[in-house]
Amino acid sequence: MISEEQLHTIDNHIHDWLKGLDELMPSLISDLKTDTKSSRFDLVTNVDETIEARFETFLKTHYPDHQLYGEEFHHQTDTLKTGHTWVIDPIDGTANLVKQLNDFCVILGYFIDGQPVLSYIYDYARQHIYKAVRGYGAFVNGEKIEPAVSKPLKDMIVSFNNKVMNDQTIHALLDQSFGYRLIGACGLDSIRVITGQFGAHIHTNAKPWDIGAQFLFAHELGLKMTNFKREGIDFTQGGPFIISNPGCYDEILDILNSDGGYQKV
Ligand code: IPD
Ligand code: CA
Ligand code: CA
Repeated sequence: MISEEQLHTIDNHIHDWLKGLDELMPSLISDLKTDTKSSRFDLVTNVDETIEARFETFLKTHYPDHQLYGEEFHHQTDTLKTGHTWVIDPIDGTANLVKQLNDFCVILGYFIDGQPVLSYIYDYARQHIYKAVRGYGAFVNGEKIEPAVSKPLKDMIVSFNNKVMNDQTIHALLDQSFGYRLIGACGLDSIRVITGQFGAHIHTNAKPWDIGAQFLFAHELGLKMTNFKREGIDFTQGGPFIISNPGCYDEILDILNSDGGYQKV
């Protein structure tokens, strides 16, 4: 582990690095270049690639013994659970960036020997830096985020990708919740849960970089974050993921696991 002083030094350094993106973003966005990856819906841009490359340079310069695991260029997973590891999604919600110029974020998670110790979700368009510091809680632009107040599903908005669930599960979630919304960036859908605006965000196949920051926010705020069997998620693997207010967590998992499960046949 590291001392409290070192933790705060790194926190301040990362905060400055994130704010430094403000100078870079306008020119990157005005010169937006978009490519497709696995399908026409799977996009990558010069913004994604430049941010991940810059974070690599930042680590090499200031923290050369820290490892990086990132969506675009950093896929080595052998030693991530030992020592200092950063997980980055340089742009989460790339489709939103391309189509709406809004509702995208940078996700960063810092782990020491597999334990999350610092986490950031930067909603650049709204200029909101969300962070969690192990033992100190969670903050938005320096203001404390209150721990979760338990609420039942009937009073909460839920968020999930409706393309990947069967109709029965979707209708049960719609009928039993207050309502449905999807932002389309896992980090920002999760932020709505972190701030108490949504009851839960569900992702049936999250990648490690989609959820690298959420572990610590959940830990600090008393939220549930597991797979659909109510087990912890390996931060190097990802997989089925729910982040939820504790008051509606069991109700949602009962729906996902009932009558043969949520998957399309
Ligand atoms: C995507 C977003 C989206 C989720 C996708 C992710 P990306 O991340 O988080 O909400 O449904 O599965 O791939 O590709 O924009 O970083
Ligand atoms: Ca992502
Ligand atoms: Ca991404």
